[in-house]
Amino acid sequence: MALEKYGRFSDDGREFIITRPDTPAPWVNYISNTRYTGIVSHTGGGFSYWMDPRDSRITRFRYNSLPWDRPGRYIYVRELDGEYWSLSWQPVPKDLDFYECRHGMGYTTITTEYRNLRGEITYFVPPDDDLEIWRIRLQNKSYEERRLSLFSFVELCLGHALVDLINQPNDQHFNIVKYDREHKAIYATKNYWVTYKEATVKQPNQAWNKYVFFTTSLPIISHDGSKDAFIGKWRSESNPEGVERGVLAETDITAGDACAALHSEMTLGPHEEADFIVLLGCVDAEGYRDKAHPIIQKYLDLRNVESSFADVKRYWDSYLSSPQVETPDQNMNLMLNTWAKRQAWVTFNMNRNAGYYHGGLLFGVGMRDQCQDMMGPLLAEPDTVADRLLEVLSHQFTDGSTLHNYFKLTGQGEKTGHSDTPLWLPLAIMNYLKETGDFAFLDKTAPYQDGGEGDVRQHLERAIEYTLSNLTPNHLPKFGPGDWNDTLDYVGRKGIGESMWVAEFLCFILRESADLLERIGAAEKATYYRREYDLIARALNERCWDGEWYIRGTRDDGGVVGSSKNTEGRIFMNAQSWAVISGIALPDRASQAMDSAYRLLGTERGPQILAPAYRHPDPGVGLATRCVPGKKENGAIFNHVAAWAILAECVLGNGNRAYEYYRQTMPNNQAHDPDVYKMEPYVYSEYVTSPEHETFGQASHSWLTGSGVWMLRDGLDYILGVRPTYDGLMIDPCIPSDWDGFKITRRFRGAIYEIEVKNPNHVQKGVKRIEVNGKEITGNVLPLATEGELLRVTCILG
Ligand code: NOJ
Repeated sequence: MALEKYGRFSDDGREFIITRPDTPAPWVNYISNTRYTGIVSHTGGGFSYWMDPRDSRITRFRYNSLPWDRPGRYIYVRELDGEYWSLSWQPVPKDLDFYECRHGMGYTTITTEYRNLRGEITYFVPPDDDLEIWRIRLQNKSYEERRLSLFSFVELCLGHALVDLINQPNDQHFNIVKYDREHKAIYATKNYWVTYKEATVKQPNQAWNKYVFFTTSLPIISHDGSKDAFIGKWRSESNPEGVERGVLAETDITAGDACAALHSEMTLGPHEEADFIVLLGCVDAEGYRDKAHPIIQKYLDLRNVESSFADVKRYWDSYLSSPQVETPDQNMNLMLNTWAKRQAWVTFNMNRNAGYYHGGLLFGVGMRDQCQDMMGPLLAEPDTVADRLLEVLSHQFTDGSTLHNYFKLTGQGEKTGHSDTPLWLPLAIMNYLKETGDFAFLDKTAPYQDGGEGDVRQHLERAIEYTLSNLTPNHLPKFGPGDWNDTLDYVGRKGIGESMWVAEFLCFILRESADLLERIGAAEKATYYRREYDLIARALNERCWDGEWYIRGTRDDGGVVGSSKNTEGRIFMNAQSWAVISGIALPDRASQAMDSAYRLLGTERGPQILAPAYRHPDPGVGLATRCVPGKKENGAIFNHVAAWAILAECVLGNGNRAYEYYRQTMPNNQAHDPDVYKMEPYVYSEYVTSPEHETFGQASHSWLTGSGVWMLRDGLDYILGVRPTYDGLMIDPCIPSDWDGFKITRRFRGAIYEIEVKNPNHVQKGVKRIEVNGKEITGNVLPLATEGELLRVTCILG
């Protein structure tokens, strides 16, 4: 199989094992306890930060550098004859005798062999303390004694990563790196934090409030804090002078480019093994020595390292334990049981921020992204989601509008006016309520960004009513400077153009909110929302039906977007899928719209976001039209969009087509040639290039994309069809007709449901009979049960 050229999943699916280092791109993983985070590539590359990758960066990422995962967390081994290499292949890429990288749940282990020395490094972040641990095991596989010099190295950024990037020659004047002989550790900080206007506006004249520590369990012989000294002139980390010389220059710095490098020595007898540890972490600057020392002491003890590593594994075992599925499709099982859940955890915590494709500098936490990302952890950690929801609500304004994004450490963000952003709040709230049944949450309060506070229900209603207050005379939402599609940014800046997709999304939210409000006795408001739904749905059907599909929008200049009248961008998938999801499409139009989308947007790798791609920049549409045709929002196979197409096909009962799209877009689809696809085969990428570009099939922007969580919920909630409702777990599968059935075990409000679905008549949808613990029930919503109770459910389709 093509995928196996570079690697495979472990038998239990919990690791992706990369078997050769020369992958088409860095294939990465995340190590994080949600406060301290590192991105780790399969060659040891990657950067680390605390809480926010822009404002509190620990190590550097060198943008636009080649190889593009430099620098990283490196250990160099040097022998007496001067030969040296690195334990993670890079940055001294020797022709290794063995290489393997295991990206697991919260850890990465890289194993290499060179000159009969086997080296294994495991990188992970313990749950309780804010540091990364490198646990190294060396094994001398030869019959000779080996005298080894070992150099551990990181390049430090220290503080504000954007300032470091754009103003490094000046910013370096505030770096402090010094070796502490008593603690046997390097300590580093920056005596200035932030000149960039947005960050820490409250107190710009200050030192970074963190100290970094770097140490090892081996006796330290020499060190460097100066990167220039460690690397040397006209060199790179591939041939550092310090390593070549065999001893470091003992540099502490009070200005200059910062690094942390430690040199130790070790003798290994024939076939002898040895373990050692390297620690990189951070503590608050105030009293940093007293704070760091106990952490260092704790984790230089291998037993504590082992037990923290076991904690990480235990955490992930528990996190992934529900739901677990068994379908006839092994790739789907891998994604639903493990990797899509893992990816959704990462997007929930790293947002669209801390990755190679986003750089960690600009985005902070995107409001709309965060609200969608919550659908992942909701399956395992609803309490965490509740807390995050309150945080997100606190960035809403009293009029119901919201910040578009915010930075966790500063609480600052941008208010862009995107027309969809506020509406994601109600969606997230209702998802939470359906999973938990915790209606008391509606009475919790959260502050508003501009002062005062309101309960959750008020936040929800204000988001909706703010959007309703921004309709055009046609009773359709103004497009504004963009909607979900950020690159349709000039369609409606003047407040005239309308977004059909926001209209559909708003209808969906109105219908869902009306259901909720009726349930909690707010009938009048519910009626108001239903009336608005009808008015907008009518406007959509009267004005936006193009003959074979729905248009995407109208422009400030009176033109249309996504219509047969256009020569480029004639049809957009979102306008069709959400017409179905929101229920606004008249019955004959719903199928016709999705059929048109299938016909005009379908490719063998999944559906395009729009077609044909724009080939001429159109200032009345915006960025999408300036992007190369076939990539990104200009006509790529955009997985987030594909996920909504799948959902819509499920709503229509088209299990075969839903699954066709699902299979096409899975990253582990064996049909992808990894040399063409390029990105990690274990997580979704934001997009795959469509046939409109010569690199058709090439993926990009892996990991940090909302498609991970939507594909997870599509698979569980709509294809397998086991989804939460206020009243209980609903069973409503929409599967390919050739499936005989599937099994799913899901925790729901404390009870465990073991569900087997049988499909003897090979239908795509339709529940014929459900038995719970041997007794037939009416309807397809499973009864609620008590904490810890196990319910055995059989469902026959037909
Ligand atoms: C990625 C962004 O993070 C997301 O918020 C946006 O909706 C999509 N791109 C589409 O533009």
